[in-house]
Amino acid sequence: MTIIVCPNCSRKHHADTSRFAEKKRFVVRCKACEHKFVINLDHNGLVQPDAIQSKPVVQPPAAQPAVVAAPQPAPIIETPRVPKTPRKICVSLSKGGVGKTTTAVNLSAGLAMAGYKVLLIDTDTQGQSSFMLGKKPPAGLTELLTGELTAKETIVEARPNLWLLSGGRSLAGVKRIIDKKSFGSEWTLSEAMAEVDTAYDYVIIDTSPGWDQLTVNVLFYATEVLTPVSLEVMSLHGLAEFTKNLHAIKKYKDIDLNYILPTFLDTRVEQPKHIYRKLQSLYNDKVCTPIRYDEQLSRSPSHGETIFEFLPDGDGAADYAALVRTITKDKTILLGGVKHGGNEETVIPSL
Ligand SMILES: Nc1ncnc2c1ncn2[C@@H]1O[C@H](COP(=O)(O)OP(=O)(O)O)[C@@H](O)[C@H]1O
Ligand SMILES: [Mg+2]
Repeated sequence: MTIIVCPNCSRKHHADTSRFAEKKRFVVRCKACEHKFVINLDHNGLVQPDAIQSKPVVQPPAAQPAVVAAPQPAPIIETPRVPKTPRKICVSLSKGGVGKTTTAVNLSAGLAMAGYKVLLIDTDTQGQSSFMLGKKPPAGLTELLTGELTAKETIVEARPNLWLLSGGRSLAGVKRIIDKKSFGSEWTLSEAMAEVDTAYDYVIIDTSPGWDQLTVNVLFYATEVLTPVSLEVMSLHGLAEFTKNLHAIKKYKDIDLNYILPTFLDTRVEQPKHIYRKLQSLYNDKVCTPIRYDEQLSRSPSHGETIFEFLPDGDGAADYAALVRTITKDKTILLGGVKHGGNEETVIPSL
């Protein structure tokens, strides 16, 4: 606690300056007289003597009156506090096997390697994200949503800069709890994460196939949607269906399909290229550089490794590094100090 004296009314305020550790200079407002003034904090969080810039401080008179008024509780100093709002990107499509989990895990890992603080939330009952990262957390999203455990007890550090809130079979029970709520059920995840996610730059959410209350909760929570589409005809139907559902949510919550990520591109055959061009003609610049078919991407999970750990100079790592550059809008980004693959133009020269 530090005592700050208002230069206008001389009122003393107790302030916990440890809360303001990131900043050294503040404009504060005296709650007693509304006067605004500047304070400077030194490295110990103490107010510098030259901090008060307005009138000189008037000390209270030394002599005490005969009757002393009961001391007033010290008004609390208000300081501007700007909470960090992370980008919350859900990786969603109702169809299974299109590369959602592979994308959520490797995108999270790439962003973390680039120096961002990332939280990966697995909302799938299969709990594959933990498996892909070689982790078996004892608790996760279920316990956080039911309120049994706190964020501290459920979020585990999976890699430097990368934290995991795991999914798994127990989420089925959570879906029932959400279903039974009589109102506001679609905000359950958002409410649970509100106090937690400000610690991160990115929250990446892996979703299950299908469409249920948890999917709806994810879309009410996320700020952006990334949809992996495997380059086969049936996937385009799946995408159309998903956009229709998303449109229904848009009536209640501002959400858009921001990124379409073509996956399983096999450059040796004609049809995937044809579908890729079709996607481009329909969705223009929402379409990201495709992820090529790469067997190493299906091998790395059984080693509990991301593609950047398993084969850092392979096609899969290069393609996911390109996705990290697209998402961050930073073409020069280095992942863990290593430049992966070529740029977006050279990754798939045959297209
Ligand atoms: N680009 C790719 N090339 C080859 N195999 C892939 C690729 N992307 C994902 N896979 C594999 O395909 C399977 C389905 O991918 P997954 O990410 O689990 O899809 P989803 O989460 O949409 O069900 C997994 O075995 C995964 O390892
Ligand atoms: Mg999955």
